[in-house]
Amino acid sequence: MPKVTYVSFDGESQTVDVAVGENVMRGALYNGIEGIAGECGGACSCATCHVFIDADWASKVGGPSSEAEAELLEATSVEANATSRLCCQVIMSDELDGLVVHMPETQF
Ligand code: FES
Repeated sequence: MPKVTYVSFDGESQTVDVAVGENVMRGALYNGIEGIAGECGGACSCATCHVFIDADWASKVGGPSSEAEAELLEATSVEANATSRLCCQVIMSDELDGLVVHMPETQF
């Protein structure tokens, strides 16, 4: 199963398995990783699953998957940057095995 490493704001990292087809937000929630809220359950309407994609992975993951995600990224609690994504919109695949995401200081 592909792995994702979640790096907290204070630099602690946790690596967990996330099934192909699952989104990166649920991967965090199912594994008890704090720092991603996912309040809307992945409906792309809350912006509480904001992550910064690690620079080494940014081109592979790509930018926002929809206009809705792009608009929500303008309303995140911590200001988004060029590698920001709402991780409920990042779907795991074998190509993303080893993905590293950095969590912001807060989602609210
Ligand atoms: S979980 Fe709400 S936008 Fe991602």
